[in-house]
Parts: sequence; C-alpha cells; structure tokens
Amino acid sequence: MRVLGIETSCDETAVAIVEAPPGFGPVGAILANVVYSQETEHRRFGGVVPEIAARAHLERIDGLVEEALRVSSLGLDDLDAIAATGGPGLIGGVMVGVMAAKALAFARDKPFLAVNHLEGHALTVRLTEPVEFPYLLLLVSGGHCQLLTVRGPGDFTRLGTTIDDAVGECFDKTAKLLGLGFPGGPAVERMARGGNPERFALPRPMWRKPGCDFSFSGLKTAVRLAVEKLDPEDEAARADLCASFQRTVGDVLADRCGNALTAAPSPTLVVAGGVAANLYLRGRLEAVAARHGARLVAPPVKLCTDNGAMIAWAGVERLRLGRTDPLDFKPRPRWPLDAAAAVRV
Ligand code: KG4
Ligand code: ZN
Repeated sequence: MRVLGIETSCDETAVAIVEAPPGFGPVGAILANVVYSQETEHRRFGGVVPEIAARAHLERIDGLVEEALRVSSLGLDDLDAIAATGGPGLIGGVMVGVMAAKALAFARDKPFLAVNHLEGHALTVRLTEPVEFPYLLLLVSGGHCQLLTVRGPGDFTRLGTTIDDAVGECFDKTAKLLGLGFPGGPAVERMARGGNPERFALPRPMWRKPGCDFSFSGLKTAVRLAVEKLDPEDEAARADLCASFQRTVGDVLADRCGNALTAAPSPTLVVAGGVAANLYLRGRLEAVAARHGARLVAPPVKLCTDNGAMIAWAGVERLRLGRTDPLDFKPRPRWPLDAAAAVRV
C-alpha cells in the first residue's frame, strides 16, 4: 500500500510518498519526502504571514508532487490513496493542499484522505519505530502542547493541554526577543549549547502542581523582562539566557510527563511535533521516562517538524481501517484530537 501525503497547514509545502508494511503494524518505508520551507518569504516579517503562505503553497505544490513522483520513480497509478492535511492550521494553506489532493484523487479515481495535522504528528513515530498502541504522547509544536493517550488512529484521550501559549511559540518568541531570527527553536537550541543554564532563575508555571496541564505565558514575560536588562553585546549572557530558558522548559515538560506517566502508566513515552527536534529536551524526557520504567521514543529529527511523510503515514493508518473521506470534505481551521476534552475546557 502506497499513499501520497500533502502538508500545507503552515509555512512548509511538503509532499511525500510512503509505503506500508502488510497488516496493521508499524514501520513503513519513505519512498519520497520533499519539503519547501518558506523561510525566505516570511523572514522579514518575523513570523508566518497567512496570505503569503497560501500563495507560496499554491506556487509550489504541483512541482513538489511531480518531484515526489520522480524521486520515487512512481506514477500516480502506482498510488493507493492521496492524503492531505485537512486542518487544523492556516486555512488558506490547508485549502491549497486539500484542493490539490482532491483533484489528484478525482482524476485518478483514488481514495482521498483528510488527515488531522495533529494526528500526523501523533502517529509519525510508527513510520520509523516499532511502537505499538497504546502509548503516551507529548505533542509539542508551534501551536500545541498536549499530553495524550494514543490508542489508535482517531482514538485519543487528552490528559492535559496548555492553558495559554504553546511551547514552540515560546521558543520562537525568545528567539525574536534576542534577534536570533525565525524559526526560533533551532536557533535557541544552538545558542543554548555554550550557555550556563543556572544563570537566570525563570518561573516554571504549573511545575509540581497536580495534573498534566501546561502554561507558558509567565515564562514568556519573564524572558522579555530579562532580555530588556541584557547588554545586547554580551554574547555570553545571551547564551546563558537561552540555556536557562531551555532548562526551565525542560523542567516543566519533565514534571508534566512525570504526572502523566503516574496517572496513565505506559511502557512508551513518545514525543512528537517540531519541538521534539530539540535534543536537550529529548534528554530530559528520556530521564523522566526511565524514572517511571518507560522508554522514550521520538521520530527522527527531520520528521519532527512539519513534513508530508507524517500526513502520508497517518493516511496509511486510516486507509488500512477503511476510513476514507468524501470529496466534499471541508478544511477545518480547528480540529481537536480529543473532541470530548476540547468541549470540557
Ligand atoms: O510541528 P511544527 O513544525 O509546526 C507546527 O505544527 O506548529 O513545529 C514548529 C515549532 C516552531 O515553534 C519551532 O520553533 C519549533 O517547532 N522547533 C523547535 C526546534 N525545532 C523546531 N523548538 C525547539 N528546539 C528545536 N530544535
Ligand atoms: Zn506541525
């Protein structure tokens, strides 16, 4: 079974083709995985501009589909289904990807799959690692910070979520305040490497409180106040602030995951989403997992940030269960993984 996946929900235009193993289990093969990052389009604005993103997706999408087919030496008729991110995300971009996928599916009479972007992140680990359901998932990206039990495609229970900002957003904001450019996460991680994590005492919202919710707005404010007092020429102090910030995020994530592993014990803790690319944070999560007799599993760094392979793989997992979508599917700007929990809040 081969599925082509399209991702256009933010600032990456991405297309991939993955092949599923027989049966319902994990570990597929990536036959093509092409990504166009719109960094140059958005850099001078210091963040993603939705209208510019949508137009850039439109300009690139056909070429990237052709490239994925060329790289994999496949034709459209060799595919079993076409998947695209159906939401949540910037709606103009999602519409571009969904329309492209519907057109291909209609033209070649293939099933169409509208994939929840968050489900893409949540299931990607099974594309590369032999992880069985259920598992505990920490989903940390630019727009989300959640702990979930993943029982299978479309079967999620949310244990906690952020009550204000997402952790990736916090990395991006810190980078912006320090003039490190966009996207911020990798820049902060790089700068933190040489820094002293003990230098700045920053607040750890929710730390050691019961439950699995997160909060990052207080930390964001504290970083802003610290940056205002900083000598912009003092590179060492800037590195110390990045290291202190990263350690603080590590403290909070480890504490929350510890609570989740106590409330919903699992042999496997999976971390996914763009922030999962951070190797320091992976180390912290590995340690908390080990303390609870669990193992941390993460997708390869390249598959943590947005890509088409995660959408194609989630498409595989859904197609194997016969869950295809009609061609009148409407893109969804909001689409929680655990709808019942979203209503509870
Ligand atoms: O999953 P993703 O590519 O897009 C969303 O669905 O939001 O996540 C992007 C986020 C950005 O906030 C980016 O700064 C963050 O992931 N990120 C990182 C790292 N690489 C990307 N944060 C911390 N450390 C990194 N190495
Ligand atoms: Zn994402």
